[in-house]
Order: sequence, then structure tokens, then C-alpha cells
Amino acid sequence: MEEIYWQEVAGRICRKTAAVAVESAEKIPYSTQNGRFDDQTGNISWWTNGFWAGQLWQLYGAFGGENLREIAEKIEGKLDRVFLDSGGMDHDSGFRWLMTAGANWRLTGSETAKNRLILAASDLAGRFNLAGNFIRAWNDSGDGSKAGWAIIDCMMNLPLLYIAAEILRDPRFSQIAIAHADTAMRAFVRPDGSVCHIVEFDPITGKRLGSHGGQGYAHGSSWTRGQAWGLYGFTLSYIHSKKREYLETALKIADRFIERIPENGFIPVDFDQPPEPWYEDSTAAAIAACGLLELSKFSGEKYRETAEMLLRNLVENRCRFDLGCDNILEKCTAAYHDSWHEGAIIYGDYFLTEAALKLCGRETFLW
Ligand code: GLY
Repeated sequence: MEEIYWQEVAGRICRKTAAVAVESAEKIPYSTQNGRFDDQTGNISWWTNGFWAGQLWQLYGAFGGENLREIAEKIEGKLDRVFLDSGGMDHDSGFRWLMTAGANWRLTGSETAKNRLILAASDLAGRFNLAGNFIRAWNDSGDGSKAGWAIIDCMMNLPLLYIAAEILRDPRFSQIAIAHADTAMRAFVRPDGSVCHIVEFDPITGKRLGSHGGQGYAHGSSWTRGQAWGLYGFTLSYIHSKKREYLETALKIADRFIERIPENGFIPVDFDQPPEPWYEDSTAAAIAACGLLELSKFSGEKYRETAEMLLRNLVENRCRFDLGCDNILEKCTAAYHDSWHEGAIIYGDYFLTEAALKLCGRETFLW
């Protein structure tokens, strides 16, 4: 019964995506303007530039459609420019290339795509700081001010390293992923199961200097997308490394996330944000649901049931399957203190697609 429902949802996502893709064939979307996708081709190193291709590859893997494959391949080619811009390369290589080259390699066996994957993994490995055992997140303008910054989101980029280790039969890559995950477990996860967004280390001694508030409400608060990256990210590190502590950490983050889901099932930008202004972030719901679905394979039904509740809530109340706009998911928010809230963001659509395909058994596992 459930599977039929999700098959139907996946079909609706596929029909809309296929129609929008024809109109957006030259675009790399991030959000929408007047309902139509914008285009980040001129901002080629933007961290979300792999997600639309990822969505197209997921649907190609599930239902076919040469047009979807061709558009995704075109985006992957455009991303080659990022490799030539050291300032554009950052820790988000996993988001950029697992969704593009990684998907292509898995679904078509492309050698060119595999090379891109290895190149991206090598750059990510090069961001590892030996003193603190962490992967540096962002670049700065040359003043070194962010040399010691790591962020929870990076847990989602680690699969690039695990996969490179497998392809090359070279454990250096997974050793770096594991070293970073071990640090993140110690330095980001709070006793109550919530996680910090940004942690700063001394880049020379490796000492943890403290944490910073990031895209959430305040320093010390629980930015929900960060909680979702942690939940899913530690689950992925468990899947790749089989280190029991990662599973335990993922469960701890998941339990805290579940405890804090509001009664109406809509996820705020931050679990600690004030009642006014109350902003929603449906991307956090979709990402957490994907993580919970993976987690449920190793633990109780509660995780799958919560994921389905979150996703049904999105499908019934936060999705547009008509062609009046290009995006599917609504009420996505990048950061609490931004001036823009509750609109379309491409990774919201990607994770919704991934989740629906997981639930009807048609996902291509890209992580
Ligand atoms: N990785 C940045 C974000 O989640 O907004």
C-alpha cells in the first residue's frame, strides 16, 4: 500500500521534472524567480550546483529518459571549470561531484566521470589538517581567518573519500574520512544529541578553540539542516566504515531530532528559534527523512515511520506538482538571518526525490 503511494509520488516528481528539464536544459538552478528556475552557470563553483543533475540522474536511473541524462552530463561538463579555480574548490566537492560525476559513473560506467570523481576526492583530501584531524570547510580571502574552520555539513562530503578509496583500492582516502568523522563526533556533537554548525580549531596546534553560530538562529542553537546533515552524514560514515560509534552517534542525533519535531510536523529553520518570526525549512525535513530511512535499515521501525510522516507532510502540504512553477518543494530556507525565507531551493527537490525513490525501491544510492 505504502509502496504504491510512493510509486505514485515518484511518478509525479518524474513527470514534472521531465517537463521542466526541457525548458531549463541550459540551466544550473539554485532557486526560482517568478516561479522559474534561475541559472548559476555564471556562479559555477556554488556548492549546490550538482543537485539538479543529481535529481535528473536519480530519475533517469529509476525511469529512464535520455534527455535527462544528456542535461545532467552537460552540467557535469560545465563543472570542470571549478577544478581550475582554487578559490572555488572547497569542502563541498562531495555535493558537487557525487551528484554529477558519481551518478554518471554508477549509471553509465563513464571513465571520464570516474576521473572527475577521483580529482574531486583528491582535492577534498588535500583540505585535511593533520594537526586537528579535520577537513577545512571554506576558503577565505587569503588572510587565513578560516583555516581552522570545519562545519557539520562536511559529513555529507565524506562519501566522496570512501568511494575514491574503493575505486582506487587506496585506503588513504577513507583514513582521512574516518579521521574527520572521529573529530566531528568529539567536537560537534553535544551531550543532548544536537550538533554545532561551525567549530574552529587552531590550524597549527589542532586545539578546539570553540564554536560559531552559522545559518541557524544563534550560537549554541540547533540549526535543523545542520542536525539533518549530521544525522544523515554519520549514518553514511557508518555505512562505509562499519564503525559502530558512527551508528550510535547517528542514532543519538536522530533521537534528539525526532524529540523536537513540532506537533504539526513542519520543521523550523532552527529548533531553538523564537515563535516570531517563525521560519520553516522543508529541506531539513527532506534531508532528515533520507537519513532516517537509511538509519532504519540498522535500527527500529520508529525511524522509518518518522521519515514517512515527515515526507507525507511535505507531499500533501509543501509540494507543487503542477507546471505553474519550476520547483517542487516549497518553504525552503537557507539561513535564519537571511533576508529571504521560505522559497524554492534545489537541494530540497533533490532530497525529496531521493526519499520518494528510496520508499518505492527505485533509488540509485549516490552517497
Ligand atoms: N551546506 C550549506 C547549507 O546547508 O546551507
